[in-house]
Amino acid sequence: MNDTVDLLRIVTCGSVDDGKSTLIGRLLHDTALIFEDELADIETASRIWGTRGDGLEAEREQDITIDVAYRLFGTSRRSFIVADTPDHVLYTRNMATADLALVLVDARKGILTQSFRHAVIAGLLGIPHILLAVDKMDLVNWDEGVFKGIEEGFRHHATRFGFKVVNAVPVSAVTGANVLEQSGDMPWYRGRTLLEILETADTGRNASAGPFRMPVQRLSRPDQDVRGYGGLIVSGTVTPGMEVVAAPSLKSSTVSRIITIDGDLEAAGAGESVTLELADSIDIARGHVLAAADRPPQTTDQFAAHVIWMDENDLLPERLYLLKSGTRTTTARVTDLRYRLHVDTLEHVAARTLSLNDIGYCNLALDRTIACDPYGEVSDTGSFILIDRFTNRTVAAGMIDFGLRRATNLERQAIDLSKDRRAAQKHQKPCILWFTGLSSSGKSTTANHVERRLAAMGRHSYLLDGDNIRFGLNRDLGFTDADRVENIRRIAEVARLFVDAGLIVLVSFISPFRAERQMARELVDEGEFVEVFVDTPLEVCEARDPKGLYRKARAGNLKNFTGIGSAYEAPEDPEIVLKAAEHQPDELAGMVMSWLVEHGHLDEAGGTKR
Ligand code: ADX
Repeated sequence: MNDTVDLLRIVTCGSVDDGKSTLIGRLLHDTALIFEDELADIETASRIWGTRGDGLEAEREQDITIDVAYRLFGTSRRSFIVADTPDHVLYTRNMATADLALVLVDARKGILTQSFRHAVIAGLLGIPHILLAVDKMDLVNWDEGVFKGIEEGFRHHATRFGFKVVNAVPVSAVTGANVLEQSGDMPWYRGRTLLEILETADTGRNASAGPFRMPVQRLSRPDQDVRGYGGLIVSGTVTPGMEVVAAPSLKSSTVSRIITIDGDLEAAGAGESVTLELADSIDIARGHVLAAADRPPQTTDQFAAHVIWMDENDLLPERLYLLKSGTRTTTARVTDLRYRLHVDTLEHVAARTLSLNDIGYCNLALDRTIACDPYGEVSDTGSFILIDRFTNRTVAAGMIDFGLRRATNLERQAIDLSKDRRAAQKHQKPCILWFTGLSSSGKSTTANHVERRLAAMGRHSYLLDGDNIRFGLNRDLGFTDADRVENIRRIAEVARLFVDAGLIVLVSFISPFRAERQMARELVDEGEFVEVFVDTPLEVCEARDPKGLYRKARAGNLKNFTGIGSAYEAPEDPEIVLKAAEHQPDELAGMVMSWLVEHGHLDEAGGTKR
């Protein structure tokens, strides 16, 4: 196929049995096709789909299992590529470049939640044109009222979601009515047929019209005489002499040459891979973005965004995820889940988590400043995915709404006294002893013994205990997964401050999730986090049951109780394992003390008792 031929990119949306394949089959069968091709291999499909040639590749890399079926066909007026997305797949990256979303509904059933969901996502992704095909009209006696009812409900919905063009057509894929030709069965419908709408739909997207953006993928080697930065232009155009900035530093320079293997260019635009030579030597690394100086991107470490949640495990605000946007990867967390979208009504619903297939709006905070754009301005630098740090699964796709200015007026205040100085004053090497284990496993009892021994040696310590902290600082938190994540985040931050103060900090919290214990570990320096797994079998904890909580949980009167209604993820590689069912608390404390001595935390010079 000739790449320059007018091509309409179509994504299908619909629920199981809405008859997508029958309709597409009918279209292909009846059309005076110039060609037709089922695109089995994803490389060809993605090349023809174009503009974001690497999109599909990237998805595969990130382990989104996409079994999108591509079909390519053409009439005398234009050619079409249809990405037939399976029902369960809500989002594929190439949706961001589709021209038209074809939503198929069964006239007998009306619009189902899944179709609404698809339409909402298509709208969020900025697909300009949505076409509603109400199929199986033959099974509702070609009734105008049925069609109108569905159409009205849908139009109301679709315009609120920002589609520029909304069309609706009543069809029967089985009889062919209104697919290619007007049908005598529905004289009340005077609009265009499905194919006519497809043949005349605007291919509305023009990435070259946006502001110039090129994420840097390659730097020329130091031994090469050109100072070049290579990458794919994702938006706008560039010409020699143009002033550009490198984001996020926002240092500026001028483009002196646009280099390709086929020679220099006078201009290059979205979709082209080039190497740019700049007039000045400015600090640019892989992942930075070269951008038009007169329309620079936002540089921020916080933004508001729509998020499509795609994982079986719920989104947990404050948990750390990897955020990948173009060529950049950082860690990020949702700091504020503002609402979840009710897809049938578009209402904003208060939410504390997002579950599989939910669409939410939230604030995210990154661990560093990046260059980004509102999705509506530049889809490439305006979109991202979130990846789970443990399972490596892609858990969400996001569209940036705008950057938040919050952090830009904050700077770290320099403090003269250092952690080392404060620690030296106390003659000790600060650390966190992080006791984790089931309720009643013996965490607090052991930690208490350890602290008494430390005090006897003249060491300075502090014990943070779950039950106590939940009376004060964490009084507002319960025992849902989301609350436990926040519980541990706050305690990890407090423990970090106490380490900075030079203390040996004992933390005694169930802390059931690996992700948050890992987060706590990463807050402090190497060697300062000592994970102590109090490994007591559930049966033993349950037999002890000093507060009667296990009994309550078994009786069904205590939801989300760890080990019964809520998961405990045992440490995989803890520094210390204490078999608390087999030893007395004092012996266990002895083991922790020996470990500290062996690892140089309690050297002879330490302690004030000399
Ligand atoms: S954590 O999971 O968020 O780390 P944390 O250590 O703060 O828990 O609090 C655990 C203590 O709260 C338990 O020792 C128990 O006394 C009490 N508790 C009350 N409800 C629950 C529950 N549903 N699950 C676990 N512990 C609970």
